[in-house]
Amino acid sequence: MVNAAVILAGGQGKRMKSDKPKVLCSVLGEPMLEWVITACENAEIANVCVVKGYRGEMLDEYISARSSRSEIVTVLQAEQLGTGHAVMQAEDFLKQYMDGNILVLNGDAPFIDAETINSALAQHIENDSAVTVVTARIENPTGYGRVIRTDTGIAGIVEHKDCEPYQLAITEVNSGCYWFKTAELLEVLGEIGNDNAQGEYYLTDCIELLIAKGRTADAYMSHNPNVVLGANDRRALLELNNAARAEIIGKHLDNGIEFCCTDGVSVGNNVTIGQGTIIHSGVILRGNTEIGENCVIGCNCIIENTKVGSNVNLNNVQAYESVIEDDVKIGPFVQLRPNSHIKRGVKIGDFVEIKNSTIGEYTAVAHLTYIGDSDVGANVNFGCGVVTVNYNGDKKFRTVIEDNAFIGCNTNLVAPVRVGKGAYTAAGSTITKDIPDNALAIERGKAQIKEGYAERKLKHHTEKYEKLKKEHESEESGN
Ligand code: UD1
Ligand code: CA
Repeated sequence: MVNAAVILAGGQGKRMKSDKPKVLCSVLGEPMLEWVITACENAEIANVCVVKGYRGEMLDEYISARSSRSEIVTVLQAEQLGTGHAVMQAEDFLKQYMDGNILVLNGDAPFIDAETINSALAQHIENDSAVTVVTARIENPTGYGRVIRTDTGIAGIVEHKDCEPYQLAITEVNSGCYWFKTAELLEVLGEIGNDNAQGEYYLTDCIELLIAKGRTADAYMSHNPNVVLGANDRRALLELNNAARAEIIGKHLDNGIEFCCTDGVSVGNNVTIGQGTIIHSGVILRGNTEIGENCVIGCNCIIENTKVGSNVNLNNVQAYESVIEDDVKIGPFVQLRPNSHIKRGVKIGDFVEIKNSTIGEYTAVAHLTYIGDSDVGANVNFGCGVVTVNYNGDKKFRTVIEDNAFIGCNTNLVAPVRVGKGAYTAAGSTITKDIPDNALAIERGKAQIKEGYAERKLKHHTEKYEKLKKEHESEESGN
């Protein structure tokens, strides 16, 4: 049987006060929609339809930029008239799966997971239900739809704003994730009305409509209360971030990762960390980042889509889309911009920026240096203040530095240029020509000494100083 999913993502989320669709608001650096799509992919749902609405083009852009395991299409809900109305827009998509079950998900509830989706489906099939709602009990059910239980299943879901006072006390709430028999959903979808507190077409009304036709409605209650959590405003979004942070850090603690202090620490969902690694405060690890074993990730590092080897020591480093091999030490205050490859044993010191470059094994870049668009060999030494001059205002060029070269302090390497094996540059040189292997290049002004030149200037200068000093002294004695 083929299963498919519809993700509801049309809402603006007015209370977010954002100019993008609510589902693109991020939890741990990933849009909420990303979490929901990933849950579908992990549950091996091959076909997904995303209902877009407010600024729908942004969702199309987002989806086409990601490499998806599932086949994802979008349909437009031109006016956002409620979750039931949103599903109606996906009617043509649903009709392709008449014989199967369809999963419907809220795009603003990121913690739904594949295990919950599959367990709910198993119960849905076993009980031969027309609809199975994923629910959980939570401490503060404010704002959520309350689940009305019966002896055999459920009687319906009542939105918070439509609840009778006694119903407000119910703590089992709707997650916004449902399995439907597709054909039966389509049968009742058109019958949903909007006679309720919000004047919206509620998808949840399908439950009563199905029951009225003699069908079975059931709920799958998750033991993880997080699966129901959604975000309608910034406060809820912050709570989701905190919940996700705590949960993910908890998993890493169980895997033998040491967190000295979790203040400001945020680890993305797809990040892996090897045993024995220590994470200090203020560290943000995002995207597809991999950290090896026995590393020290010091304060305030931001590492995004970067592979870090083992025994690496980073301190106040920002690294994006890069590779850092084993036994490397970097920091403090270093930025690795995209496509930097730092090979084994390299040492990079303070105030260094590297971009789109390879740094060979055991090379040292100790201070105040910019290396852009460069191929640097092994065991090269950079003096303080070296700059690869890679951009002429129009085009970018590469610098090649061969193994064992020694780049003197304050050298400018004007690309395209090549420094040969074991070659030296004299401090303060602006190198514009290729340097052969083992040569020394000096490209700087010749020293000129003009004897006595400063004497006249110095006299004027010291006179001014003596005068000022006297004035202050007489002022002080006068007081
Ligand atoms: C919904 C449920 C509620 C549940 C809660 C869980 C209904 C009627 N209520 O309430 O029972 O407890 O989710 O988080 O379904 N959307 C559209 N088009 C629309 C309206 C909404 O695509 O016209 C999308 C939104 O972008 C969002 C999702 O549907 O991703 C849920 O909509 P939202 O308005 O946030 O529903 P809730 O009031 O949170
Ligand atoms: Ca919501």
